[in-house]
Amino acid sequence: NEIYFEGLGGVVPRFPFTYEGLESRAEAALGPSLWSYVAGGAGDELTQRANASAFERWGLYPRIFVGAARRDLSVELFGMTLPSPLFMAPIGVIGLCAQDGHGDLATAGAAARTGVPMVASTLTVDPLEEVAAEFGSTPGFFQLYTPTDRELAESLVRRAEKAGFKAIVVTLDTWVTGWRPRDLSTANFPQLRGHCLANYTSDPVFRAALDRTPEEDPRAAAIRWAQVFGNPLTWDDLPWLRSLTELPLIVKGICHPEDVRRAKDGGVDGIYCSNHGGRQANGGLPALDALPGVVEAADGLPVLFDSGVRTGTDVVKAVALGATAVGVGRPYAYGLAIGGTDGVVHVLRSLLAEADLLMAVDGYPTLADLTPESLRRVL
Ligand code: FNR
Repeated sequence: NEIYFEGLGGVVPRFPFTYEGLESRAEAALGPSLWSYVAGGAGDELTQRANASAFERWGLYPRIFVGAARRDLSVELFGMTLPSPLFMAPIGVIGLCAQDGHGDLATAGAAARTGVPMVASTLTVDPLEEVAAEFGSTPGFFQLYTPTDRELAESLVRRAEKAGFKAIVVTLDTWVTGWRPRDLSTANFPQLRGHCLANYTSDPVFRAALDRTPEEDPRAAAIRWAQVFGNPLTWDDLPWLRSLTELPLIVKGICHPEDVRRAKDGGVDGIYCSNHGGRQANGGLPALDALPGVVEAADGLPVLFDSGVRTGTDVVKAVALGATAVGVGRPYAYGLAIGGTDGVVHVLRSLLAEADLLMAVDGYPTLADLTPESLRRVL
């Protein structure tokens, strides 16, 4: 209504309402190197495309005489009540997508304005404490890329706890970077040429391992970062990860039901079903197709989901297939690129408005009304 009433007054919206519109504006705003980094994926990007098109294979049944004039999209997660199932997936170096280079802070500001939680990456451009300070009353989650130096991992988690993050998300699918032709073509690595060091150079354990401070010798700091970044963890490391924190522990990058069962046995609090938006491995199953098996194996444990969510309709379908909370990645990065905090708020509010209207029209007043029986496979 807000948009239509402003339209009556001749005000044309600042930002696009389609994913394609966001993409084209973001491409122009970001320039070739950053655009390759954000928009690109692994290999010929088959999995990345399949993630999005998987949603087309499910259709929602409309239900009548429901009177869904009031909807409640709220959800309980780890003892918190969130206004909706939507959250922002972690995006490393997203800070650079904002015109001023402080996009993590801008994204955190959008979380504060919308109540949509942000999962802050280990690879923020500004230190995690500064990001957390922008969350307002919206809970934030910290995503850990587990370094090979255990003491450093512990220090990062301690800092996240102290900064007020409400959960720790450990990403398991990115201890090595996937084969990404677009990034290779623009020579983007390592991690956009060193803009991902803030949480390391601000860390006492990381600093103590250096002969000279990162300010005196940034190159040595970058080399040390590259040495400790990727940890090919195994199931033997799960008890240690679990022991790191009393906060809810979520493992990200899980698609196989057997892995869900093992993670559950290891005492995690949530499973995060994702294939990293098709950025890591190509040729894989669309994440949405893995979701029902993950939900079944999780057997009541919360399941977070991302990869391929582009519309509010996609959010609703993921919830119907059993996701407790649904993450978006690239869409909000594009919002950030074209309009900073306002752009991210626009993207999040558009996704939520579409989801809410769909639930109104199709007669699903609450998330609990959305079940696998609400959907039918159409292709
Ligand atoms: C990511 N993703 C990611 N995941 C993570 O755990 N830590 C990280 O630092 C990053 N970095 C990152 C950078 C960029 C540019 C993108 C696009 C993605 C993966 C992210 O959390 C999420 O899994 C996907 O983005 C979801 O897919 P869609 O919504 O982008 O299709």
